[in-house]
Amino acid sequence: MAVSIHDLASFKERGERFAMLTAYDFPTAQILDEAGIPVLLVGDSLAQVVLGYDTTIPASVDEMLHHTRAVARGARNALIVGDMPFGSYGTSLDDGVRNAVRFMKEGNAHAVKFEGPQMELAERCSAIGVPVMAHLGLTPQSVHLFGGYKVQGRSEEQATNILRWAKELEEAGAFALVLECVPSELAARITAALSIPTIGIGAGPDCDGQVLVINDLLGLTAGKAPKFVKRYENVREMIGEAARTYAGEVARGEYPGPEHSYS
Ligand code: KIV
Repeated sequence: MAVSIHDLASFKERGERFAMLTAYDFPTAQILDEAGIPVLLVGDSLAQVVLGYDTTIPASVDEMLHHTRAVARGARNALIVGDMPFGSYGTSLDDGVRNAVRFMKEGNAHAVKFEGPQMELAERCSAIGVPVMAHLGLTPQSVHLFGGYKVQGRSEEQATNILRWAKELEEAGAFALVLECVPSELAARITAALSIPTIGIGAGPDCDGQVLVINDLLGLTAGKAPKFVKRYENVREMIGEAARTYAGEVARGEYPGPEHSYS
């Protein structure tokens, strides 16, 4: 059964925790969908983990749409959320709405996500049938404003702002809220204060759902991972090993064997 935003509301009502994962391509979307992951986010983390940029800032709408379409083709049941990249909203309300519509019409997304206290945009999108996932805390598109990837909401002032924005985004029609890198205690307070589900990443165990970047979970990402990442596999090592074994077999004349050859 196809997952809708109403299913996420029901998960929260029933106290059922749920998982969201990022996906950027067709085969990964197929695998995650078959594994029963209810929400796939085509995150702008694409810029870093797929395209090799240092931040998410260079991702363009066209690149995001290209990958959102591939994920939508791979998933049968999951709710597909397209992540609006830096500069595609926030500069003008009309541009934001227009780009959100592109994610639905051209990307085949079921919903969009954007970062920060964009209450008017959430309201305008919701009013025309574009479901909105909000995102507060460490919003990576503002990395230069924050002066690095730092936990947000540790000061009373920041915490008060994040809680207020969360409530205002809910009132504006957002159906879910991603909370990234905020203290667990603040995430728990926000989760209790909202009727829409919160989805945490580096936000402790009390959110209604959790999200991870698929490349981090699989151990595809090079280098040291942030504290909140749990690596469930080391696929980077597995790929390297498979490639070395193949190259060795080619060098020794073992591959292709008769079973891989035509008469
Ligand atoms: O772009 C992304 O992958 C995200 C998640 C980390 C929430 O925004």
